[in-house]
Amino acid sequence: MQTVALDVAAVRRDFPVLDQTVDGKPLVYLDSAASSQKPRQVIDAISRYYLHDHANVHRGVHELARRATEAYESSRERIARWLNAADAHEVVWTRGTSEALNLVAFSLGEGLGPNDEVVISEMEHHSNLVPWQLLSARKGVRLRYTGLTDDGRLDLDHLASLLGPRTRVVSLPHVSNALGTINPVQKIGALVRGRSDAVFILDGAQGAPHLPLDVQALGCDIYAFSGHKMCGPTGIGGLWGRRALLDEMPPYQGGGEMIERVFHEYSTWAEVPHKFEAGTPNIAGTVGLAAAVDYLEDVGLDAIHQHEMALTRRAVSLLSEVDGIRILGPTDLDDRAGVVPFVLEGTSAQDVATILDAQGIAVRAGHHCAQLVVDRFELSATVRASFYLYNSTEEVKRLVAGVETARRLLLP
Ligand code: ALA
Repeated sequence: MQTVALDVAAVRRDFPVLDQTVDGKPLVYLDSAASSQKPRQVIDAISRYYLHDHANVHRGVHELARRATEAYESSRERIARWLNAADAHEVVWTRGTSEALNLVAFSLGEGLGPNDEVVISEMEHHSNLVPWQLLSARKGVRLRYTGLTDDGRLDLDHLASLLGPRTRVVSLPHVSNALGTINPVQKIGALVRGRSDAVFILDGAQGAPHLPLDVQALGCDIYAFSGHKMCGPTGIGGLWGRRALLDEMPPYQGGGEMIERVFHEYSTWAEVPHKFEAGTPNIAGTVGLAAAVDYLEDVGLDAIHQHEMALTRRAVSLLSEVDGIRILGPTDLDDRAGVVPFVLEGTSAQDVATILDAQGIAVRAGHHCAQLVVDRFELSATVRASFYLYNSTEEVKRLVAGVETARRLLLP
């Protein structure tokens, strides 16, 4: 892979929130897997929209309605270009990955019943698990779980054994939020297609912010993503889906904007993607997310990925030297995104995170909305450091020093 440089000092100047102290110590923000910070460019784009252009979309003939509609639809086109979608109509706005996956589970699920199977995994964030459980309860669909290997990968032999003529959906994470594993999704797509006619869905919440993407090359049918994890605002995200599939899927919610014609007894639906966008959408959110994509592509997704990998290598190497530490996830660091989950033997993850917080270091502790992952490794919680484009090597060293301090304070 060609090395591309990322100027962290220049990037950090775009994120005013990072320039602050916590209890007198410079903030070290290592919780971007939970939510990323926002560059000034995104905040300014949202302000500009509200200061000059806001009205409702697709509903008025006046100038501001035109401008708002243009902002909303050109943001969709920006997202389509970023994803390399064949057509902007294949991009559906939602509140984020959770809503995208709920939409898909509900809508695809309408046609499923007790003879059908949905395959997910023990690596799922609850957003790609609970919606399928709800479907199972509603329709009697059988839910099957792909197991994990000891180094935190999907067990592909097990996955292969679950696939067959009853498999109607396979829904898996692109990147694990709790382990950092980058899954070999093209290989998995080929496996799924070779053994079933299933719809192949990727939860891209942790993939989209960090990896160059081309949905046409990934081999999936649906890809879900969240804006707030990729320098965009909260409350906006979406899904990409193959047009023919989206055309077949029934609506998820009813209301304004999603209809073609309403009669007393029934209604007909608007074209994709509007069929899935009932109600006034988060227009400013789409503007902010398009600005976030502009920002990330200006810095370069390759450069971002390489930078995160360098930070991860440094973190894993230095943390491995701390007595009593256990780091979860793939040991081959080429297959790991900028997520480093660990436990310090004899301590609770919450206590370690609290001591880190007292040193200005923000990490997440808990099950990370992926309870089956911590169960699989017989833990109740882990500490998770997660990196993004604005983190520095100096911050990795602060993390390691903080963990050493936690060990000294918590262990006799
Ligand atoms: N999905 C988010 C996380 O992993 C909230 O922390």
